[in-house]
Amino acid sequence: MPGCLVLSGGDPVSEEFSASLAQALRAPKASVHRKVFPDGESYVRLPEDATGSSRVCVVKSLAPPQDKSLVELLLILDALKEKGVSRVEAIVPYLAYSRQDREFLANEAVSVRAVLRAIRHAGAESLYTVEIHKEESLSFFEGRAVSVSPYEAMAEAIEVPDGDTVVIAPDRGALGRAVRLARALGLPYDYLVKHRDRVTGEVFFEPKSLNVRGYNVIIVDDIISTGGTVAKASSILLSQGARSVTVVVAHALLVGDAWRKLVSAGVRRVYAANTVAPASGNPKIIDVAPAVASALGATA
Ligand code: R5P
Repeated sequence: MPGCLVLSGGDPVSEEFSASLAQALRAPKASVHRKVFPDGESYVRLPEDATGSSRVCVVKSLAPPQDKSLVELLLILDALKEKGVSRVEAIVPYLAYSRQDREFLANEAVSVRAVLRAIRHAGAESLYTVEIHKEESLSFFEGRAVSVSPYEAMAEAIEVPDGDTVVIAPDRGALGRAVRLARALGLPYDYLVKHRDRVTGEVFFEPKSLNVRGYNVIIVDDIISTGGTVAKASSILLSQGARSVTVVVAHALLVGDAWRKLVSAGVRRVYAANTVAPASGNPKIIDVAPAVASALGATA
């Protein structure tokens, strides 16, 4: 991709992701300088190489603290626009706020729409993210917007347990994820039926008997936040006779006591992409920046 400078948003997740992306693209890399004012406001300063470039790929994960990450991304995009950089692409490995993608209750703010509009308005001509919660949300971005699937790249790094193994999605909405991972691993797939109480946020599963007796199960999802979904799914599958449970997710936030919940629910191992820094536990992190580089290269 000639002429692209990979510009890291400066936080540790974006630094590592952009180093791998730059290597895969054989592109130069620079980082913004960032600091926090005593009152908590964010400050960023562009490196000189960025202001002299015609094309800049800004890498900024909206990893926790999400609001600060978002403000920093908007400041970077706006500064690049003001400096006359003609082509600015936003590479956002984790797009926070993507799960509030409609009004579940009347008059709720549709957060993913607000975030995507803000990124576009601040100056990003195109947007690349990893495994957005729902692909349809990308239509809120008025420009080229791509959600890169991490599962094919992750499949190459996953140690599949010996014996019969099946890939299971925790709900119908995640079935496409199970299909992609299962195809990449050459395994069968199925899904559970999950519901969420929109007021309390509590998750519960409908009774559904799957043929998992004696099988190793790989649960696949886009995100682990509190761990509630995957922990409950794991307990159900083990109670139905599954031999072991491994988990594959794009974004392992693992907030609070999420890791302890997973361990208590019998999860043996968790694989996650390098889009956020897990707040707890010890998932095996897989670099998916080369997959984003391929998507960027393919549409350049
Ligand atoms: C929901 O639809 C998502 O795909 C995830 O299953 C969910 O957000 C995970 O959150 P938690 O780990 O808090 O259950």
